[in-house]
Amino acid sequence: MTVYCDPTRRPWPGGPDDRVPTVESLAALAAALDADPAEQLAVLGAGVPLAEALGCAEDYRINRPTLGVLLLRDQLEVTVLAAAIRAGVREVVPAGDPATLRAAAERSLRLSMQLGAAAPPGGTPQQRPEAQVVTVFAGKGGCGKSTVATNLAVTLAAGGTHRVCLIDLDLQFGDVGIMLQLAPDRTIADAIPMAGRLDEAGLRSLLTSYRPGVEVLLAPARPAEGDHVTRQLITELVAQARTMFDYIVVDTPPYFSDQVLAALDLTDRFVLVVTPDLPTLKSIRLTLDMFELLGYAAERRLVLLNRADSAVGLTVSDVERAVGSRMAVLMPSSRDVPVSVNRGVPLAVEKPRHPVSRAIGTLAERCAPEGGRAATHRRRGIFGRRS
Ligand SMILES: Nc1ncnc2c1ncn2[C@@H]1O[C@H](COP(=O)(O)OP(=O)(O)OP(=O)(O)O)[C@@H](O)[C@H]1O
Ligand SMILES: [Mg+2]
Repeated sequence: MTVYCDPTRRPWPGGPDDRVPTVESLAALAAALDADPAEQLAVLGAGVPLAEALGCAEDYRINRPTLGVLLLRDQLEVTVLAAAIRAGVREVVPAGDPATLRAAAERSLRLSMQLGAAAPPGGTPQQRPEAQVVTVFAGKGGCGKSTVATNLAVTLAAGGTHRVCLIDLDLQFGDVGIMLQLAPDRTIADAIPMAGRLDEAGLRSLLTSYRPGVEVLLAPARPAEGDHVTRQLITELVAQARTMFDYIVVDTPPYFSDQVLAALDLTDRFVLVVTPDLPTLKSIRLTLDMFELLGYAAERRLVLLNRADSAVGLTVSDVERAVGSRMAVLMPSSRDVPVSVNRGVPLAVEKPRHPVSRAIGTLAERCAPEGGRAATHRRRGIFGRRS
C-alpha cells in the first residue's frame, strides 16, 4: 500500500516493525507505482531534493489523484509547507518522528480509499452531498457548549459510519483539544498562509484525527494567533469541509465574533445551549433577537436545556416560557460529565448508555438532514442502531 523513496538511502523512518518497500530514485518510484495500480501512498524521504519532490507530487496529483504523497523534511518551514500543499503533497512530516508519520500515512490511506470508492471506473470522483453544518452556541460562558459539541461529534460519527469534522472556533480559549486529549501540533492558525486558496489537501493537513470518523480542527495554541483568522478564512474552511464530510460540528466562544458570524451564516442547524438560571435565560433571549435580526429561521434551531434536572427553582416550562421555544433536548446534570472532561474522554465514548449520552443521541438524531435521515435508516439504522 505504501512505497518509500529516498536517494540518500536513509532507512524508512516509520519504525523497524513497519516494513515498507523502499526505492532509491523517483524513476524507481514511478516504476514501482506503475507496476501496482493499487498502491495508494508514496512517501518522499528527506533526501529527495525539494524541487524534485514537488514536481513529482504535482505530477501524481494530476495523473493519479487517488495516490497520496507525503513529504519528509528535516525542518518544517512555512514556505516549504505552503509550496508542498500547493503542489498536492497531502502532509509534510518531520523526518525523525515515526508516530507523526504513521498517523499521517493512516490519514492519507483513508482519504485514498474514500477517493477510490467515490470514483467510478475510469472516471472522476462523484460529487458527494454537502455536509450538514451544526453550530453549538450560547451567549453565556460555561453552559456546556464544548461538552455538547465534543459528545455530539463522536455520536454523529457513529464509530466511523459518518465522517465528522469538529471545528473549535473558540479561537482564544478553545477547550476541544483538552477535552479530547489532542496535542495542538496543527491548528486553525496554520490555515492562515493558505487563505484564498485552501483546497482539500490543505484542509486535510490541518486536521487532527481523533477516532474513526472524527477529524478535529483545533483552536490555536496561542490566543493571539486567533486574531489573524479572518471571517473570510472561516468561510473558506467551512465551505471546503462541507465537500469532504457528512457533518461539521462547530464549537464556539460565548459571544458573536466575526468568525462565529461567518460560521453561523453557513450553518444548517443551530444548537443553542441553555441552563436553568436567570442570567443564561436573559442571554438566550438576546441571542434569539440577534438570530431574528440575522434572518436565521426558527425551524433550524434546536434548544438544548443542560442540567435540566437541577433543582434551582426553575422548571422546564418556566425555561420554555422565558425562551419562547420548546426544548428539543433535556440533558441532565451529572458529576460524570466533569469526570469525563478531566479524563479527556467524552462520556458518549466511554458510557454510551449514560443519560447524558442518550440526550446527546437524541440531539444527534434531530441534527440529521431530513432526507439523509431516511436514507441512513434504510442503510444501517441510524447511529448504529438497527431499524
Ligand atoms: N450536564 C452537565 N453536568 C455536569 N457538569 C456539566 C454538564 N455540562 C457541562 N458541565 C460542566 O460545566 C463546565 C463547563 O462546560 P463546558 O466547558 O462544556 O462549557 P462551555 O459552554 O463550552 O464553556 P465556555 O463558554 O467557557 O467555552 C465543565 O466543567 C463541564 O464539565
Ligand atoms: Mg467551551
